[in-house]
Amino acid sequence: MLVLGIESSAHTFGVGVVGAGRVMSNEKAMFPISDKGLIPSKVAETHVKNAPTVVQAALDAAGVRLSEVEGIGYTRGPGLGPCLQVGELTAKSLAQKLAVPIAQVNHGVAHIEVTRLLTKMRDPLALYVSGGNSQILKATAEPFRHYAILGETFDIGVGNMFDNFARGIGLNPAWGSTVGKMASGGNYVKLPYTVKGMDFAFTGLLTNAIKLAATERKEDLCYSIQETAFSMLCEATERAMFLTKSTELCVCGGVAQSRRLKEMLKSIANEHRIKFGACADEYNADNGAMIAVVAERMLKKGMGSMVSECGIEQRYRVDRAVIV
Ligand code: FE2
Repeated sequence: MLVLGIESSAHTFGVGVVGAGRVMSNEKAMFPISDKGLIPSKVAETHVKNAPTVVQAALDAAGVRLSEVEGIGYTRGPGLGPCLQVGELTAKSLAQKLAVPIAQVNHGVAHIEVTRLLTKMRDPLALYVSGGNSQILKATAEPFRHYAILGETFDIGVGNMFDNFARGIGLNPAWGSTVGKMASGGNYVKLPYTVKGMDFAFTGLLTNAIKLAATERKEDLCYSIQETAFSMLCEATERAMFLTKSTELCVCGGVAQSRRLKEMLKSIANEHRIKFGACADEYNADNGAMIAVVAERMLKKGMGSMVSECGIEQRYRVDRAVIV
């Protein structure tokens, strides 16, 4: 089945095409980062402008015509309302034009499922880390097979924490990557470390690190905030690994692009002799292909919606979506 997937939950308008479980294209346009952060209405305006071009680019890259598409998928949530609406409306208008069904996809499930597909994992424990989300998840058994949240952030996502920190100490945030780049060559400065069982919190770490900018080198603070935050995530993930007796561990989401985080998780997996995997950066960043992957499976199982049934949900929790 040839399915076109649309992702628009935050700064990225992404479109991917999938056929018979294989990713055929993955194109995107991103809202440019600024020191003001994400203003949802402005991002949505940019998505509206980019949508036709990105849809066409994804079709061209896949080598297919729009008329050949047999189903549409889009991100129902979670995400920023105005941004989600652009994806929803694009999906609805395409589905209406083509008279094909629509799948309403959970963004978090899509991150895990594309990783599971591309790393050839069967039933991994997943650390899902992005700007807005930081969760440890594992699939439950039938009859309602879904990703149960074993641990999560009590406050903000780790990616947003890095961007807020970068802004707070006068660096240009670049969707989390500024801190990672500045971290190399830094020395450790003691910062708060907050893990409660398999949950964690980042605001104490953030505010303390910003306060210390008056006396400490920026490189040292970047190194220390990154090491501390990732150690917290690793400790909680390792605990979940023991609890679930998992033999596979994956990391996904925008922050999974961090080489340092993957290195730390891999060393834990090696120590316990379990498989570790992450996909290429293009599938960890928000993208349309991951939405198409899940949408194709949903549509094949008859889980499509009519145009009139579609909507968005800014707080669509990952544990409410069925895994297909
Ligand atoms: Fe994401």
